[in-house]
Parts: sequence; structure tokens; C-alpha cells
Amino acid sequence: MSDPKFAVFGHPVSHSLSPRIHAAFGKQLGIALDYAAIDATPETFAARLDAFGKAGGSGANITLPHKQAVLPLCAEISDFAHRVGAVNTLTRRLDNHWRGDNTDGTGLVRDITRRHGLDLRERHGLILGAGGAARAAAFALLDAGVAELTIVNRTPERADALADAIGEPDRVHTRYWDDLANLGNFDLIVNATSAGHARESLQLPFALVAPRALCYDLSYGLAASAFLAWARAAKAGFAHDGLGMLIEQAAESFAIWHGKRPDTDAVYAQLRGELPLHASD
Ligand code: ATR
Repeated sequence: MSDPKFAVFGHPVSHSLSPRIHAAFGKQLGIALDYAAIDATPETFAARLDAFGKAGGSGANITLPHKQAVLPLCAEISDFAHRVGAVNTLTRRLDNHWRGDNTDGTGLVRDITRRHGLDLRERHGLILGAGGAARAAAFALLDAGVAELTIVNRTPERADALADAIGEPDRVHTRYWDDLANLGNFDLIVNATSAGHARESLQLPFALVAPRALCYDLSYGLAASAFLAWARAAKAGFAHDGLGMLIEQAAESFAIWHGKRPDTDAVYAQLRGELPLHASD
């Protein structure tokens, strides 16, 4: 029997660390697996996924830009993925249909609470951005017990749409980007924008950062460097990029597929050492 087949689908996908992360997990737990990166455009994604399943594919990670487009291709969707409106993990069921999960939110919360040892409960949070990454983060942070969440997006309608989807008006507020200087301060600030990937600066006021604040960028490496530099200059208590979130969401996917959760510390240390930027406390 050949090894079970796994893959990450995205576009572009050649930069993805997922094949390395899953290979390392498999090695650690003695589970033989074959994990590939499959580049699929929005036009070819459904057909390539179908071919992957028919060729015996057992599970897949789904990354940009397909996390929403994959929803109608799932026969079953987890409650969290349904609420977020995005799927990052597919598992082939016995009847050959796909089940969709979203492990991004759990990955974020585990990285913050377990790796970095920080408590999320009762924090007053600010999320910058309202795209797919922000959606998973917002739902997960609220589930993890943050007291309040303010969502600010360059395009305000998307922030309002996310707040409406969450449906907790007592805990979730939206504000305009132009008002960032007048919002007071927050002890949790999450950068969920894709600005860092385009090397665009967010021009954020230091006044947003409360003493001992946790500033977290969902991106990692160079894409997170401008936001983390800002956070340190603003004297944030903690400034972390999303490398740990990436590895934790992969571990969650791995556990869904193989029934065992790998230890993530060794993989984290390895990849951390290779990245140009180091998070700091
Ligand atoms: P992802 O799935 O990574 O969240 P996305 O859905 O394309 O990607 O969302 C990107 C987010 O980054 C959006 O919130 C976007 O703001 P708009 O909705 O106004 O486009 C935000 N973003 C990207 N570049 C930005 C910039 N230079 N300044 C502020 N926000 C930016």
C-alpha cells in the first residue's frame, strides 16, 4: 500500500512551509506520509481537488485564495468553519466526500496561550483588518474569552460585515481607520491585514498600545517585521509574529488526520532559527 496522500492547495503555494512541517511531524511520530504542495488557480481549484480525491488523497490544507471557495465543495463542515466562513483543512470521509474544518483559530489561541504563556481572558482587543484571516482570529479570540473586540478595517463595510456575522454587539465594535488615534488603548492588538506582504506601512499611532499589551501579527518573518518594530517602539509588553500559529494550525490538522497531536516545539525552534526576524517578549 502506498503512503496516504496529503497536500496543501493554494496560489501561489511554492513558498508554503506546510510540506516541511507535516513531514517533520510524521517523522517525529513515526507516521509515513506523502505531503505535496499543489498550485491551483481559482479556475482550476475544484477540478484539481476532485482529481486529488479520486487519486486517493486523504486530506488537504487549503490556503489563499481558496479558503472560502472550498466551502461548497464540502459535504460536511465543522461548526467553527461554518461560523468563520472559511475552511483550511479537508478530510476525506469513507463515502469519499470532504469534511471541512478550520484550525486557524485554534492555532492562534494555542500559540498565544501555550507557547507564549499569555492569558487572553478579559483583554480588550483591537483587530486590524477584516479579511479571511481576521475572521478566524476574531471568532477564536472571542471564544477564548477576550472581553471586547474592536474591528478596524481600511474598508469599513468589511469590518461591519464581520461584526454582523459575529452578532455580539455588546462585545464587538467597529471603528473607522481614520479614527485610530482617538480610540484609546488596547492590551491586545492583532494585525490581520496583508499590508506587510506588500511592504506597505500601516502608520499606526503609539497611543493604541496599553502597558503590557500583546501585539500579534498573523503573518510571520519579513511580512510581520514592520508591525513588530512598531509594537516594540510603542513599548508593547509582548510582540509576536504568526509563525507559531502556522505550526499550531498544522498540528491541529495533523491530529484530525492521524489521530495524534505532534509536539510542535522542535519544529518551531527549527523554523524560528531560519527566519530573518525573531519575535521577542
Ligand atoms: P486575508 O485572507 O489574508 O485576510 P484578504 O481577505 O485579502 O486576505 O484581506 C486583507 C486585509 O488586509 C483586508 O482587511 C485589507 O483591507 P481592505 O478590506 O480595506 O482591503 C487589509 N489591508 C491590505 N493592505 C492594507 C493596507 N495597506 N492598509 C490597511 N489595510 C490593508
